Amino acid sequence: MGLKLDSDFLWGGAIAAHQAEGAWNVGGKGVSIADILTAGAHNQPRQITDGVIAGLNYPNHHGIYFYESYKTDLALMAEMGFKAFRTSIAWTRIFPNGDDAQPNEEGLQFYDDLFDEMNRLGIEPVVTLNHFEMPYHLVEAYGGWSDRRVIDFFVTYAETVFNRYQDKVKYWMTHNEISNQANLVDEAMSEFMIWTNSGLRFPAGTPTEEKLAAMVQAGHYELVASAKAVAIGHAINPEFMIGGMLNVAPLYPASPKPADNLAVQKARQARDWFSDVHVRGAYPAEFEAFADRTGFRPDITDEDRAVLQAGTVDYLAISYYNSFVVKATSAGDTEFEDAHGFEIVPNPEVQVSDWGWAIDPQGLRYTLNELNDLYPGLPLMIVENGFGAYDEVVDGQVHDQYRIDYLKAHIAEMEKAIVNDGIPVIGYLSWGPIDIVSAGTGEMSKRYGYVYVDLDDMGEGSGERLRKDSFEWYKQVITSQGVTL
Ligand code: BG6
Repeated sequence: MGLKLDSDFLWGGAIAAHQAEGAWNVGGKGVSIADILTAGAHNQPRQITDGVIAGLNYPNHHGIYFYESYKTDLALMAEMGFKAFRTSIAWTRIFPNGDDAQPNEEGLQFYDDLFDEMNRLGIEPVVTLNHFEMPYHLVEAYGGWSDRRVIDFFVTYAETVFNRYQDKVKYWMTHNEISNQANLVDEAMSEFMIWTNSGLRFPAGTPTEEKLAAMVQAGHYELVASAKAVAIGHAINPEFMIGGMLNVAPLYPASPKPADNLAVQKARQARDWFSDVHVRGAYPAEFEAFADRTGFRPDITDEDRAVLQAGTVDYLAISYYNSFVVKATSAGDTEFEDAHGFEIVPNPEVQVSDWGWAIDPQGLRYTLNELNDLYPGLPLMIVENGFGAYDEVVDGQVHDQYRIDYLKAHIAEMEKAIVNDGIPVIGYLSWGPIDIVSAGTGEMSKRYGYVYVDLDDMGEGSGERLRKDSFEWYKQVITSQGVTL
């Protein structure tokens, strides 16, 4: 038995344009940074190529053909009783190059139709402005977010879609998982994350300090762009709820050693400055001290600081999948910027998925409490949570009890956080309610959905949609307002 949530709680699911829509060069769309990522696999990173190279497998080019199939796919979401559905606007459908003088009407019309369909079905759109989808042209011509001018391009894009969809969309978020790029520990993942967040690439062997400096500067411009967008959005429609979005994996110390606990704290601070700026409109003390100490204080003007103050977010959107254990590797004098002052070690207390992701439902309750301690009373929306797994179709059915088990345990912990701990969580949108292309690996076979999509890692298959066992289960969860788990 679960705990009953309010009737206005936003149950639903979430996807991103680049992982689902396909139609990468249709309707005037430009090339995005996701369009030049090849397919990888578990332990085999996706390659970032110089433009689109013929003959390579770029899974985001087809996604699950959602651009064509959204009506039937959304009907399946409505059948489960979805109250909300999160997707992103592909920036390159609206501004194909990013610095175009005029938006692309065909792209704008596509999202008019998409949001109309959601509203017709009684499903609240929840929209990400930038989900790993910056125009590739902005990387080639400006060096991605390393260039201050990109702020204005983003703000123009945000203002365009806020104006256009002001009566269709209430819930927005600016940059997806903006703090991912702070992860400089894992070399391969760090390359992917800095690329998807900021459009930055570094030659092999670039010193960590150099990457850190570039990431911090780009991150600052992203935060300024976000704050400007928030202020403009509120001026366009004061009813808008505009959030920042972060991945919030808990960090646990490897032992009771003070050095491990300090390493956890420093690792968190090295990530949480993004949410501090989103929520409080100012950098935390340790960030300022780090910038002073290192001498590579980034280009942060007084005007920027005023912009950050004036554009704080209405809520935090979070993704939660797993947790990590942090072990100090230095003598215990770990600093904010010291990416090598700790390592991530396995947690013997939890199981892992086939992709090695720790399965930690209690970590969700822990994290929600932690966030409420940091930002008391701020509404939180879970906009991603789910279990990437291999599915097998037998006689047209997928018996995905493992997925139900994962989701059930996480929802139960979320409900305790809401009902027993008093945390203001306003929605739960599970990740990939219909199978989509994995962001991290580019695989189709890493599936999260209640709905199976008959496509393989090469994009081959009928594209047919099948309801998995979890489909009926999630429908019951929603109908019972979280009581039947
Ligand atoms: C989040 C991203 O990091 O995790 C999504 O916002 C992504 O885009 C999700 O799909 C799950 O990761 P993956 O690599 O399993 O697709």
